[in-house]
Amino acid sequence: MKLVVLSGAGLSAESGLGTFRDKDGLWTKYDLSEVATPEGFAADPDKVFAFYNARRRNAVEAQPNAAHYALAELEKALGDDLTLVTQNVDDLLERAGATSAIHMHGELMSALCSECGHREPWRGDLDATSVCNACGARALRPDVVWFGETPYHLDRIYAALEEADLFVSIGTSGEVYPAAGFVQTADQVGAKTLEINLAPTDGSRLFDRRILGPASETVPAWVKTLI
Ligand code: OAD
Repeated sequence: MKLVVLSGAGLSAESGLGTFRDKDGLWTKYDLSEVATPEGFAADPDKVFAFYNARRRNAVEAQPNAAHYALAELEKALGDDLTLVTQNVDDLLERAGATSAIHMHGELMSALCSECGHREPWRGDLDATSVCNACGARALRPDVVWFGETPYHLDRIYAALEEADLFVSIGTSGEVYPAAGFVQTADQVGAKTLEINLAPTDGSRLFDRRILGPASETVPAWVKTLI
């Protein structure tokens, strides 16, 4: 059975990392257009660096929860039959032991050089004076996908969706495209679809089946039924 799993901020919520659109979510405290768009970065790079520096620090301090560990186990059990896609920019899946997660919205622990395209692992703060190790330019930015930019690895993701028997969405509100449209793509190719979330979402009706509850409980229980 070929499986595609898409995760969102709800997967890491119980590790202490805030979601975006829930009560007290990041987008209730920050203006998305100021901190998560190329235009916002051009207008006030220091504000954007500070936003991602704070998120990187939080992520470094956070620990994976039972849902991350369960997905890492699922990966070990299914191998290539699982395509693990995440919208999350934290590294909690990797720290739980997963090695194949596709970070479609980029990674906090990586810096991208706007000058030469070089990427490098980055766990500390990043600012306008940070120097690219490949070309020497002071042109590093967080290696995350901003609104208005194209998510990473879409070819691989759609190829996996085309072959999927089951598509599972975990802890995502389904508000942000193209990820929000994966359930319809999966449905069109005949895959079964399952939503795992704390609460129903606006897109819940698009799924064949739903499991409600906190990811740290629902995801391990669901994984147990598969392996
Ligand atoms: P959202 O904040 O939009 O949605 C989080 C979802 O997680 C909601 O549906 C919650 O019900 C659910 N949730 C919260 N706690 C949970 C828990 N303990 N267990 C299970 N589910 C839980 O976050 P995303 O859908 O990930 O993109 O947001 C998608 C994208 O929007 C992000 O990748 C980010 C953001 O703007 C960019 O910055 C490009």
